Amino acid sequence: MRFSFPVLAAAILPVALGATFNVTIGAGGQLRYSPETVTAAAGDIVNFIFHPSSHSATQSTFNQPCVPLASGFSSGFMPVASETGVLPMFQVTVNDTTPIWVHCEQTGHCRSGMVFAINPPASPDPESFSAFQALAMSGQTASATSPGSSSTTSGSSSTTSTGYPQKTASGASKQSATEILGGLVGAMLVAAVL
Ligand SMILES: *[C@@H]1O[C@H](CO)[C@@H](O)[C@H](O)[C@H]1NC(C)=O
Ligand SMILES: *[C@@H]1O[C@H](CO)[C@@H](O)[C@H](O)[C@H]1NC(C)=O
Repeated sequence: MRFSFPVLAAAILPVALGATFNVTIGAGGQLRYSPETVTAAAGDIVNFIFHPSSHSATQSTFNQPCVPLASGFSSGFMPVASETGVLPMFQVTVNDTTPIWVHCEQTGHCRSGMVFAINPPASPDPESFSAFQALAMSGQTASATSPGSSSTTSGSSSTTSTGYPQKTASGASKQSATEILGGLVGAMLVAAVL
């Protein structure tokens, strides 16, 4: 079977010509993302632009708005001294239209409502953006369990106003990767000596 050029072009171009959405973080000293939601298609890019003083764009889940998703993305903290310099950016490629929930890991910011979503369900839905933001500001987590999150549940409920346990959680996975690497290097050195 042969495909005509227009069919091939239609299959390739949507990814190649994906839209880019600029989202500012902390502009004007506000603990907000702007805009707070984006409706994006697969292949689109969300370009986070960081304002002073130090924020992050960290993926979470609807049920636990202020807890980093272990397998999710994070910009890490982006310290910015002044509005007048070049502002750092962090890009996320949207791969499908599943809702993506994001928060700022800086202490107290998520609790202040500093959250963001890509493709959230529209407003009457129980998992709308406004419901997500309200949950973040309540300091609670949704009672429905989210898969794979049980290990961080106690940390999030007792320390919603601090990013410390969250940082520990993400640091732990990086650490183990480093340890594995260190172990490999060590093994190679031993092999070289022998
Ligand atoms: C997004 O921000 C970048 C960096 O400031 C800028 O160059 C670009 O023009 C912006 N794009 C849109 C669509 O506003
Ligand atoms: C989309 O896929 C790329 C490549 O696998 C990955 O790096 C990126 O984190 C994914 N985007 C999201 C929002 O998960």
